[in-house]
Amino acid sequence: MGKPPQPFADAAATFDASGAFVSPGKTRVYRQYGLTLVMGEREGVGFRDAFTDQYFINCHCNGGVFNLGHRNRELTECLKAALDEVDIGNHHLVSGWRAALAEKLCRSTSGHLSGVVFGVGGGEAIDLAIKVCRAATKRRKVISVNGGYHGHTGLAVAAGDPSFREPVLCSEPDFHQVPFNDLQAMDRAVTDEVAAVLVEPIPATLGMPLPEPGYLEGVARVCRDRGAKLIVDEVQTGLGRTGRLWAYQHHDFQPDVLVSGKGLSGGLYPISATLMTSDLHSLFDAEPFIHISTFGGSELGCRVASKVLELVDHPAFLANVEAIGARLERGMQGLPFELRRRGLMMGLKFPAEGAGMLAMRLLIKQGLFVLYAANDTSVVQLLPPLVLQPEQADDVLARLRAAFPA
Ligand SMILES: Cc1ncc(COP(=O)(O)O)c(C=O)c1O
Repeated sequence: MGKPPQPFADAAATFDASGAFVSPGKTRVYRQYGLTLVMGEREGVGFRDAFTDQYFINCHCNGGVFNLGHRNRELTECLKAALDEVDIGNHHLVSGWRAALAEKLCRSTSGHLSGVVFGVGGGEAIDLAIKVCRAATKRRKVISVNGGYHGHTGLAVAAGDPSFREPVLCSEPDFHQVPFNDLQAMDRAVTDEVAAVLVEPIPATLGMPLPEPGYLEGVARVCRDRGAKLIVDEVQTGLGRTGRLWAYQHHDFQPDVLVSGKGLSGGLYPISATLMTSDLHSLFDAEPFIHISTFGGSELGCRVASKVLELVDHPAFLANVEAIGARLERGMQGLPFELRRRGLMMGLKFPAEGAGMLAMRLLIKQGLFVLYAANDTSVVQLLPPLVLQPEQADDVLARLRAAFPA
């Protein structure tokens, strides 16, 4: 690994500056928890603390941003070549790179979703998903799941948990939440005023509860019966995380809209995508200039994202995600939590509220970088890089066992 320079002399000075100019609250909380970690060298499945040099296996991956590891060689080569040849491009003009990536994304849904609009981050891609559903249905209401998280932007934050939107007075009357896995509640909520239902196939911030058999198919049926559109938020679950390219592909239904972000960037260049049916995409036939984004679908981002798709949309890659997940599951037997797992999307569910926060600290001490689930503090989110090798998976297991000795 190459050690990147640091602008401050030590962790204390870094935290002081961050507290003064970026986020006093965040730095105070991290100091309180003894998490005075600053990311330094990074490569493959891990990174080092810039000042203590402690090594961490990245088992959160920023919710999937680092699915292919840090500074994946094929992706950095791709970005370096792109930097020698193009730049962001011009969003007013047609771009071959953008079109080529959009075609690849549509093919990954077997052509069911046939139009793509690019953005920079996941939240704005969710905003657009809601906009097209409203435009097509001429309805306003949106139903999502309690404890979900879909981003910090206008419509996305309105669809999330009250803890994210109430402090900023963003409680929109047209947005309602129902409990995950409760099909009856969904059935009651989806009236003929509902434009869209927005779900993560596995809600990450809610602690990775797996959908019960038939639940997502049932939600799709309810949407179809009432003329509402179904948006799947695959910002965390997509791009191979669950052992299929898209998590909805474990099930027997087709979404109207799919949102991708995080991992599409390869951890190197921000980009997000909203994929939709031709019916929804046709909004832009009549109104081609009503949703524009200066940086969305930049040519640099499209080149990296195309490489990401090429690497992950491959049967051997996806089979390996499941094989490594199964190896981890076998090795976790006897540890003091219930494992929620699909592929390498995992939640460690501890018996008590708040226990996920304590477990997170124990795991970080052992060099496993993890985060607890914000909307279920009994759960630690475990999202290792999808490129984890068997011996690295065994290292993860050894660190888990060291954190929770028998
Ligand atoms: C499921 C999900 N959707 C949407 C978003 C928003 O993405 P972004 O932070 O890129 O706006 C996130 C971010 O954590 C997410 O986890």
